[in-house]
Amino acid sequence: MRASCVGFVLFAALVGAACGQEKKAATITITVPENSYKETLVTVDGVDVKGTGKTRVFTTPALEAGKEYKFKVSALVEPNNYTKITRPREVTVKAGDALKLDLTTEDKKLDKIVVRWVPTPEDIVDEMSKLAKITKDDIIFDPGCGDAVMLIRPVKALGAKKGIGIEIDPKYVKIAKEKAKDEGVADKIDIREGDILNEKDMAVCAEASVVLIYIGDDLGARMAPVLQKLLKPGTRVVSHRFKLGDWKPDKTVTVKGADGSDYILHYWEVKAKK
Ligand SMILES: C[S@@+](CC[C@H](N)C(=O)[O-])C[C@H]1O[C@@H](n2cnc3c(N)ncnc32)[C@H](O)[C@@H]1O
Repeated sequence: MRASCVGFVLFAALVGAACGQEKKAATITITVPENSYKETLVTVDGVDVKGTGKTRVFTTPALEAGKEYKFKVSALVEPNNYTKITRPREVTVKAGDALKLDLTTEDKKLDKIVVRWVPTPEDIVDEMSKLAKITKDDIIFDPGCGDAVMLIRPVKALGAKKGIGIEIDPKYVKIAKEKAKDEGVADKIDIREGDILNEKDMAVCAEASVVLIYIGDDLGARMAPVLQKLLKPGTRVVSHRFKLGDWKPDKTVTVKGADGSDYILHYWEVKAKK
């Protein structure tokens, strides 16, 4: 290159820098939970960020100096084979930034938890009913009722007064209603499509004298304050396997299922409000 040409390139670079036009990438280092049953999937603006383990590094395209850029980062965490937690965040970076983003902790407002249907065997529903001492005077509530086995069994076998279920998946709302009809107890089973994290949908639980639950640790912890607020003192609560956030069970028992497996059941009685 001739001297005059080199001079021109240098001049152009200097002018570019002086005008703030020098482009530079930024990096976003994302930390994700390690206790995942599956490798956590991280995306930025919908595109997968490759990598495994607890950190992922995303490098942005070259960004113009002095400008702010927003990126949508999302982690899909699967702590077990029935729970999917989506953790979306928006971050703002400038050219040359090295941002750290911690996605190991929950944001109750932003994170979405989805628990899939896994049924409780009928004999275990009977054990839960025994633990709750269900009688014909009881109204049973199941948040996340699936096919309504936890409502239909106590109504049919023990003559419980009524069963109320909330279910987010319309497919299971339909299945539960059909099953209640097939079992001849449709008049005593009230299935509602709704979200157990929505206080309005949950208001109906104030009617219950017994709550039977099988919902997973993550969703259970989120739902616990709603239950605490809405349930009447004296309501008996039995959960198949999972705890309810920081609630300390009054009793925990292990029962043998007809399938030969051990099932853990937790029992609480809702205390009078302070
Ligand atoms: C583990 S299954 C238990 C079903 C039933 N209670 C049983 O023990 O057989 C959990 C159910 O909760 C439903 N579910 C998950 N998230 C929910 C939410 N936010 N609101 C209402 N139902 C939900 C699922 O669709 C699924 O049917």
